[in-house]
Amino acid sequence: MNRRSFLKTGAVGSLGVASQAIGSNGNVTLGLQTPTEIEGPFYPVIAQQDKDFDLTKVKGRKAKALGQHIVIHGVVIDTEGNPVEGATVDLWQANAAGRYSHPHDSNPAPVDDNFQGWAIVPSGQSGGFRFRTVLPGIYPVGGGWSRPPHIHFKVTKKGYIELTTQLYFPGQPLNQVDRLLQRKSKQEQKLVIAEKSSDTPDTFYYQIIVEKA
Ligand SMILES: [Fe+2]
Repeated sequence: MNRRSFLKTGAVGSLGVASQAIGSNGNVTLGLQTPTEIEGPFYPVIAQQDKDFDLTKVKGRKAKALGQHIVIHGVVIDTEGNPVEGATVDLWQANAAGRYSHPHDSNPAPVDDNFQGWAIVPSGQSGGFRFRTVLPGIYPVGGGWSRPPHIHFKVTKKGYIELTTQLYFPGQPLNQVDRLLQRKSKQEQKLVIAEKSSDTPDTFYYQIIVEKA
């Protein structure tokens, strides 16, 4: 079963299928877990009415979020390659201009009122999850450091160790100089950089590997 058919069927039924499919990018995933990363200062504190899985629009507003609209899909699995169903995938990110909707974000870039900003997506059958969003913008941290586009994740499920991490995008020049990403080994970097779909535009695949408690 190649990875494309794996994605189409969503089948992650056995160890063999999962490791073969997910290992198509050259990673040996068995036994590894997604590396952790800091939560950062912008975990959502502003309640929002709209909590669905399409962050590119906000309930009651006609205009869509600015920026490149993308789809992120993937699976939550454990370190043995078994799908983890019913995990809570809590995610938040900057808008396309690099601004969080958070009172502590001092970046002068504009808030986008049409961008949802965060969502809580449960993993479904076979551990799958999917959401639509915008490519996050670059933002300055200070000291000559700008963060590459990234999405923050916190993944929880009873019986598993809580995982806080960040998703990065392939081919982003700032990945090469990011002070958080670059303190990880090459193997760890591979595990947090999403994979661009070769057959669907603006679509990225991300696997999240959690460890049993
Ligand atoms: Fe961030």
